[in-house]
Amino acid sequence: MLNVTGLQKKYKEKTVLENVSFQMKPGEIVGLVGENGAGKSTMLQLLATVIQPTQGDIQLDELSYMTDVKGIRRLIGYVPQDISVWEELTVEENMLFFEQLSWKKRTKEECRQLCLDMQLTHWKEGVQSLSGGMKRKLNLAISLLHDPTFLLLDEPTVGIDLKSKKEIGSYLHRLAKNEGKMIMYTSHDMDEITTVCDRVYAIGKDPFYMNLLMENKIFVEQLK
Ligand SMILES: Nc1ncnc2c1ncn2[C@@H]1O[C@H](COP(=O)(O)OP(=O)(O)O)[C@@H](O)[C@H]1O
Ligand SMILES: [Mg+2]
Repeated sequence: MLNVTGLQKKYKEKTVLENVSFQMKPGEIVGLVGENGAGKSTMLQLLATVIQPTQGDIQLDELSYMTDVKGIRRLIGYVPQDISVWEELTVEENMLFFEQLSWKKRTKEECRQLCLDMQLTHWKEGVQSLSGGMKRKLNLAISLLHDPTFLLLDEPTVGIDLKSKKEIGSYLHRLAKNEGKMIMYTSHDMDEITTVCDRVYAIGKDPFYMNLLMENKIFVEQLK
């Protein structure tokens, strides 16, 4: 369970988020939409403990972000907007490298299975030669190594082929529905948002996304 109350984020004089409150339950996939610069990445970075709010509190499974950052980080899987994997290594080497950094121990076979679960089959291949979609999947697999309960994905499907997009979408759906993981992710692809997400938050001043989703009868709320 996630509980966000009165969240504010200012960068110097610029207020990006003001008095934001919302909740999420296990097994839910929530989309975050809004124009560029609306504050989507800022929101995910706050939830991922990468940056700190200027006001407000966040609680995850009874743990407070103010006092239990270490415990919170164990529960969080975060994939930032830019892909961050070792290009000069293979998929296998990447997985085993990040497994070493993870507090949860995984066998090589478990690491491989994690990749296979999302149709990332290029175990022995160098990352350089992978498509954007495969790299995204690898990034996602790495973020799942420590079996987080709360997944934060910043535009995980931007600029990738439709097949990978669909595979990632249905994988996220399985993670939420079969394993009870809580997932928040951002995307500009409204087809994807409407098929994958249980509900959607719109952020920022531009009513475009809000109206578009409402026209399509998608449950969307303005996040403020
Ligand atoms: N580290 C930072 N320092 C100052 N301003 C920032 C920083 N990160 C983001 N911003 C500003 O905050 C606003 C929201 O950015 P961001 O969260 O990246 O939006 P989005 O992901 O929705 O495109 C933008 O105006 C951006 O310029
Ligand atoms: Mg962003």
